[in-house]
Amino acid sequence: MDKIEIKGGFPLIGDITISGSKNASLPIIVSSLLTGNKLTLKNVPNLTDVISMLELLKSLNSEIQFNNNTLQITNSEPKRKIAPYDLVRKMRASFLVIGPLLARYGHAEVSLPGGCAIGARPVNIHLDAFQKMGANFKVENGYVKGTVKDKLIGTKINLPFSSVGATENILMAACLADGETIISNAAREPEIENLGNCLIKMGANISGLGTNVIKIQGKYKLSGCTFEIMPDRIEIGTFVLAVLGCSGKINLRFADNLIKENLKKIFGFTKSLKIMDKNNGVEVVSNFGEYNGVDLKTKPYPGFPTDLQAQLSAVMTKAKGSSTIEETIFENRFMHIAELLRMGAKINVDGSKVKIIGKKKLHGAEVMATDLRASSCLIIAGLMAEGKTIINRVYHLDRGYEKIEEKLLKCNAKIKRVKSL
Ligand code: EPZ
Repeated sequence: MDKIEIKGGFPLIGDITISGSKNASLPIIVSSLLTGNKLTLKNVPNLTDVISMLELLKSLNSEIQFNNNTLQITNSEPKRKIAPYDLVRKMRASFLVIGPLLARYGHAEVSLPGGCAIGARPVNIHLDAFQKMGANFKVENGYVKGTVKDKLIGTKINLPFSSVGATENILMAACLADGETIISNAAREPEIENLGNCLIKMGANISGLGTNVIKIQGKYKLSGCTFEIMPDRIEIGTFVLAVLGCSGKINLRFADNLIKENLKKIFGFTKSLKIMDKNNGVEVVSNFGEYNGVDLKTKPYPGFPTDLQAQLSAVMTKAKGSSTIEETIFENRFMHIAELLRMGAKINVDGSKVKIIGKKKLHGAEVMATDLRASSCLIIAGLMAEGKTIINRVYHLDRGYEKIEEKLLKCNAKIKRVKSL
């Protein structure tokens, strides 16, 4: 297993080109199941989660070509509409295939995703919605087996929680249902809007994207299209936090005004960062080391994203004064805290809250990545720490960050990947 070695204490100075969004790519790749025509997707990041999803689609009879971040997918009817355990267990997003398979073929057998490092993560909201649309399910040997007598029927669906995945799954299935589906209390994450815009290019009839109420008029069939994946806003937020924690000045290159706007909102808690709009992205400058602690809660979009909570915790170990961060989305997203403590941080975990005592100098240590965002938290901690940090199990990092060590190396960071023999 590869490791990453970092010698900390250097300001970050340079330019970074942001990759395409993992969390937009995954559902959009799955949406190709809704048509027999070719989907050409540009700006797809080369990540292990994307490769896992392509493996799953190949097992569902997809023809795939993926090079230089351009992906071409053509789907013909799979003999067995089965998403097997050994593929689904790798990545929860695999469960997104159940909606398109039910909508297009009226049959699906998908392994339950099971828990993962950040919580139990059930799929009840997905299944309840599809039952309301006429699907019948039984759970056998860890598989959800769904059948639809004829076609899914459009209906009104009120989500008990603004689940991102459930919104995406229902949105895709509703595109081929009979009649109108209205999803209320829908999640508003930009990745859902990106998925919706791709579906519209495929011929879907959708309104209300970006709001909590999405309306879909089902169509008989969808066609292929060419579509560009949006930039990865969590990668952007990770680098913004790295500049706050390490000091420096970085140009982040991406094209998306919605992301630029939201950056100012989610980082409005600190005066110690200047985020300036540029034609091709933003310039992020910190005021070199001094920043106050923060009290905040993670929230669904447009609030502070849960996917940046671990990275923020690392940065706040060095703030003037203490911080309180409350995780409201997942029940166990503090696996990174134990590793930060080993680097000299002073943090107390109290239920869904962490209290971080500031002004603690981090010192380098050998640490273990436990999940995707915990691993980027440890990258930031290593960049901030005095001395050398070695991060083990960086396969977690490779799930969601494309060439992160190469991008940081070009920004004055002393970082290298040590390949396992
Ligand atoms: C998506 O996960 C993202 N993943 C996550 O990013 C992100 O953290 C999350 O949304 C919240 O923004 C992808 O887009 C591939 P949810 P998802 O359904 O769809 C509970 C990353 O680091 N829930 O909004 O799984 C669930 O247990 C990843 O890139 C139910 O109880 O998120 C969780 O506590 C991590 N029943 C909460 O809702 C359900 O049927 C949020 O889940 C569905 C969800």
